[in-house]
Amino acid sequence: MIQLADLTLPDRMNQHELKKYFELFPDLIFKATHQGQLIGFCCAGIDMYHTTGWLLFSNVHSEFQGKGIGKRFIEARLEALRKFERLQSVQVTVSDGNIPSIRALSAHGFRHRNTEADYYGTGKHRSIYELSLCSWDFQPRFAYPMPLVDMK
Ligand SMILES: CC(C)(COP(=O)(O)OP(=O)(O)OC[C@H]1O[C@@H](n2cnc3c(N)ncnc32)[C@H](O)[C@@H]1OP(=O)(O)O)[C@@H](O)C(=O)NCCC(=O)NCCS
Repeated sequence: MIQLADLTLPDRMNQHELKKYFELFPDLIFKATHQGQLIGFCCAGIDMYHTTGWLLFSNVHSEFQGKGIGKRFIEARLEALRKFERLQSVQVTVSDGNIPSIRALSAHGFRHRNTEADYYGTGKHRSIYELSLCSWDFQPRFAYPMPLVDMK
């Protein structure tokens, strides 16, 4: 898995990080295979209050990119995260030049929230994209017609 990750995004994933994801979020890791060979995998996580989910990593072997696997990885992780009843939003960090990631995230309703300079160290800026799952209830407090207030 590390070899595949290094092929698609050098020096981003390491064994320590991946091991922790398996220990912490085993049900939030998905793989794609072709003829028994691993061609991609992705990981998600969730905060300790179970309100904020994170898409942590995804990669697809270059020969198989552009075939919709990246989007399926997003769907699989969102479906798994939605099982947490208190989930309010899902966030993900992306570099601004990563057009495939941004297109796939946008297609699933993620919106740019902010950009943080040096997020992963000097020069490693990242934008945070967010999918909000809150459905605010704007029902009027009072039954219609509203009680009249006499302004005299
Ligand atoms: C990001 C990544 C996982 C997307 O996987 P994928 O299987 O290629 O994604 P999809 O086929 O679902 O395509 C997603 C979108 O990106 C577009 N896309 C795919 N490859 C592209 C390319 N080389 N250039 C421009 N757009 C591209 C697709 O057209 C699609 O957009 P659309 O629906 O608007 O047409 C894959 O490109 C990858 O492994 N990149 C390197 C690792 C990485 O950057 N990971 C993300 C950060 S952790």
